[in-house]
Amino acid sequence: MFPIDLKSDTVTRPSKAMRQAMCEAEVGDDVYCEDPTVNRLQEKAAAMTGKEDALFLPSGTMGNLVAVLTHCGRGEGAILGINSHIYYYEGGGLAALGGVVPLTADDSSGLIPPSEIERNCRPVNVHFAPAKLLCVENTHNKCGGLALSPAQMKETTDTARNNGLAVHIDGARIFNAAAAWGCDVSEYTALVDSIQFCLSKGLCAPIGSMLCGSSDFIGRARHWRKKVGGGLRQAGIIAAAGLYALENNVARLAEDHGNAAMLASMLTAGGLEVEKNPMPTNMVYFHVPEKAGRDLHERCAARGVLFNGAAGGRIRLVTHIDVTRDQAARAAEIILEEVSAS
Ligand SMILES: Cc1ncc(COP(=O)(O)O)c(C=O)c1O
Repeated sequence: MFPIDLKSDTVTRPSKAMRQAMCEAEVGDDVYCEDPTVNRLQEKAAAMTGKEDALFLPSGTMGNLVAVLTHCGRGEGAILGINSHIYYYEGGGLAALGGVVPLTADDSSGLIPPSEIERNCRPVNVHFAPAKLLCVENTHNKCGGLALSPAQMKETTDTARNNGLAVHIDGARIFNAAAAWGCDVSEYTALVDSIQFCLSKGLCAPIGSMLCGSSDFIGRARHWRKKVGGGLRQAGIIAAAGLYALENNVARLAEDHGNAAMLASMLTAGGLEVEKNPMPTNMVYFHVPEKAGRDLHERCAARGVLFNGAAGGRIRLVTHIDVTRDQAARAAEIILEEVSAS
C-alpha cells in the first residue's frame, strides 16, 4: 500500500488513462515545431489563458526563468516578493544565468502592495538598475497556498503597468486559485503579460509547464528555452499527459481543497495551531512546538503519513488526487496522536 503522501502535489503519479494517452500520442520533432501533440497542447493553453500563444517547457522553474529572461536584459531589475518561489526556491537562476537584478518586495500578505512597486521604480539614474518586470505568485505557496482573486490583484498589476513594467504571474497553481474563487483563469491572465502554470502539480501530469503570452513574447521565449536546454524532440509523449490533465483534472481540484479544509479543521479541533488563510486551497500550514517538531515527520512517516520536516516549527501538508478524503482524515488522526505523544 502507498503511504499517505502530503509532501506536495508534485508527488502524484499518472493514472492509467493518462499513461494510455501518452502511449498513443502522435509525435514529431518539437524543436522544428513539428510535434502535433505539443502544438495541440500549446494551442489549448493559449486558448484557456486568452493569450495569443503558448510554449511547453519541462518545468515551472524553467518556465519562470525563460519568462524573466525574455522580459529583462542583463542589469535590469525584476521586482520579486521575498517569499516568492522565483526568489526563494529557484536557485537565483535569473541572476546566475541572465544577469537580472532581483528587486525584493514585501509580499508577506501574499500580494505585493502598490507602495512596494513604487519604491522599486526609481528615477532614471546611473546608480540604479532599472525595474522592467513585476512577478506575482498565485496561489502563493509560502503564504499558505493563499488564492488571490483577480480583483485583489488588479491594483498591484495596474500600478506596475502605470510604471511601465511588464507583469508575469508565477501561476504554478493558477487553476487552484480560479477554483477557489470560482472564476476563469483568463480573468487573471487579462491582468498580465505572461503566465507560467504547472501541469505537474494538482493537475497530475508527470512533467511540464506552460508559458503563455503574446506571439512576439512567446517567439522570443522560444529562443531562451533553446538556450537553457529546454528544446525537446518527441515531446508529444509528455505533452499528451498535459493535454489529458487540462481536459480531465481541472474540475476536480475543488475536491483537494475540500480535503485540505477538513484536515485543517481536524487539526484545529485537536488543539494544533493551524494558520488562518482568507482563501485557502490545497495546502495546510500548522505550527508545532520545537520539541514536537524535531522528528514529527519521521514518526508520522513510520506510520505511513509523509510530509517534510518542520522549518522553524512550521509544517506544510498538501492534498492532491492520490489522497482520498478518508486518508486525509486518517493523516490528521495520526499527526494529532504523534504530537500529543511528544
Ligand atoms: C509557486 C511555484 N512556482 C514554481 C514552481 C516550480 O515548478 P517546478 O518544480 O516544476 O520547477 C513551484 C514548485 O513547487 C511552485 O510551487
